[in-house]
Amino acid sequence: MCCCDCNNNMDKYAALQQVIDELKNEPGCLMPVMQRAQDIFGYLPEDVQNIIAKGLDIPVSDVYGVATFYAQFNLEPKGKYIISVCLGTACYVKGAQLVLDELEKVLGVPAGSTTPDGLFTLNATRCLGACGLAPVIMVNDDVYGRLTPDQVAGIIEKYRN
Ligand code: FES
Repeated sequence: MCCCDCNNNMDKYAALQQVIDELKNEPGCLMPVMQRAQDIFGYLPEDVQNIIAKGLDIPVSDVYGVATFYAQFNLEPKGKYIISVCLGTACYVKGAQLVLDELEKVLGVPAGSTTPDGLFTLNATRCLGACGLAPVIMVNDDVYGRLTPDQVAGIIEKYRN
């Protein structure tokens, strides 16, 4: 039995082709095709961009241009848990940078990266709209406020388990 996930990937490429066939004659179909491709793959790797370009008969630079212009598109795989560390003013003055430094240390990756096990993506963000709880981080939809660096390892451990 095959130990890799090639069958799974085959299904994904077949699903992408189906989306392209379905939408390619619609005006302005590039964004919807890219969105659906990202739903299928979780991000837009180079080969997926190439398939979209070929399928829609447009230069791959057009696909890449849209992928890099709009924040909703990811060119790198994202972790199962997205950690957003607010570096807005209220959080910053309450020590958000120290929390971010600790997260980088505990996870072993810099902000803007995903851990090699694919579990966590660490991002620095603007105000998350919970300034009264500064400093604030979010892990997917969970909000953690009034954080100190010494709480970071425990939070990460909770998701690892
Ligand atoms: S500045 Fe961090 S939540 Fe507003």
